[in-house]
Amino acid sequence: MAWKRRPFSGRRLSRALNIADLREIAQRRVPAFVFEYVEGGAEDELTLRGNREALEALRLIPNTLVDTSARHQRIQLFGRECSAPLIIAPTAINGMLEPDGDLAVARAAAGLGIPFTLSTLSTMRLEDVASKAGGRLWMQLYVMKNRRIAEDIMQRAAAAGYETLVFTTDATIFGSREWDQRNYRAPGRPNLVSLLEALRHPRWLFEVLLRNGVPRFRNIEAFLPPGKRDAIGGSLVTTELLRNAPISWEDVAWIRKNWPRKLVIKGVLSVADAERAADLDCDGIVLSNHGGRQLDSCVAPIDMLPAVAAKVGKRLTIIMDSGVRRGTDVIKALALGAHAVMVGRATLYGLAAGGEAGARRALGMLCEEIDRVLGQVGCRSIAELGPHLVRSARR
Ligand SMILES: Cc1cc2nc3c(=O)[nH]c(=O)nc-3n(C[C@H](O)[C@H](O)[C@H](O)COP(=O)(O)O)c2cc1C
Repeated sequence: MAWKRRPFSGRRLSRALNIADLREIAQRRVPAFVFEYVEGGAEDELTLRGNREALEALRLIPNTLVDTSARHQRIQLFGRECSAPLIIAPTAINGMLEPDGDLAVARAAAGLGIPFTLSTLSTMRLEDVASKAGGRLWMQLYVMKNRRIAEDIMQRAAAAGYETLVFTTDATIFGSREWDQRNYRAPGRPNLVSLLEALRHPRWLFEVLLRNGVPRFRNIEAFLPPGKRDAIGGSLVTTELLRNAPISWEDVAWIRKNWPRKLVIKGVLSVADAERAADLDCDGIVLSNHGGRQLDSCVAPIDMLPAVAAKVGKRLTIIMDSGVRRGTDVIKALALGAHAVMVGRATLYGLAAGGEAGARRALGMLCEEIDRVLGQVGCRSIAELGPHLVRSARR
């Protein structure tokens, strides 16, 4: 009989060895409908699975007998040093995982010298995160039908010191996350099974819902009708908020005029769109399929990276996300031409598993793994990585 590995069954952060372990703890700490909001992808989840498959199908070719004892993983990002090649991806409704979840992740990132990106659909006001978190702050922008919301976010983010604006372009037609939707009767209204799930998680119920009140879209609250401010049932609510907002490349010029600092376009996947972003004076792009939450059957960013990097790598800062769970994933992306990598769920699993300490642990794990893999492939710095270190295992 084949020997089977035992799955991780611990509950304590200190027992977790990797992001998958944190995910296990997270799954036990929050009700299923909350976990499914974080975890889920669109429709048949081909994109979601494909992100992992594409990363796993790459293999590293190490250089041996290189003295890497003085190696480091620092990078320059928009003219400033980052202590790791990571950026926290914007994620809506972090307050459903942990009270003040945005602040917890922002603080964890600041402590490790990693930029944090706050979602337009955060559950804390951008000003509060800025005044309490410290560190490098980026602001994500959704442009909705009511343009005043985007103008307001840009003005407030500039005033509060956010250094980079990340304009997300791939959520106007919202992905259908079906197993998340099945948990609700209507936006903001969990069904009976979800209510029972909440009761089975008294710590979560007390900390997240009762003690601090139901998480709300604090950033844009002033623009929402009273019945639509709650962030419960996130996918359903955001579908309504973003539905068919008429945005196009022309809006990039409008945003460029309104935003004086670094501008990054998130949701680019084709070479043509990457070139367009460069032509419109953007500073960077995030090659992303939104972690498999929007278009199903979408190409994995890692598969587009070499072609995009070859075309615009010298004109734009290229950031990649979607599916990153290990240091090896980060190293593969950097070797294939990304300048930095965004992480979404990896940090959220940490947050759900243990608040700020959990988010710190998730980021610490990734940094440790990056450091180890960098040494194992025989590189002393990120600058020494290159496509010669990667090949497809599918060939
Ligand atoms: C729970 C959750 C909420 C998200 N909310 C946003 C958002 O508000 N704005 C945005 O641009 N992307 C959002 N994303 C996408 C992430 O920024 C990022 O592209 C994605 O998580 C990367 O994939 P990964 O989770 O596999 O790392 C969200 C992702 C998750 C998992």
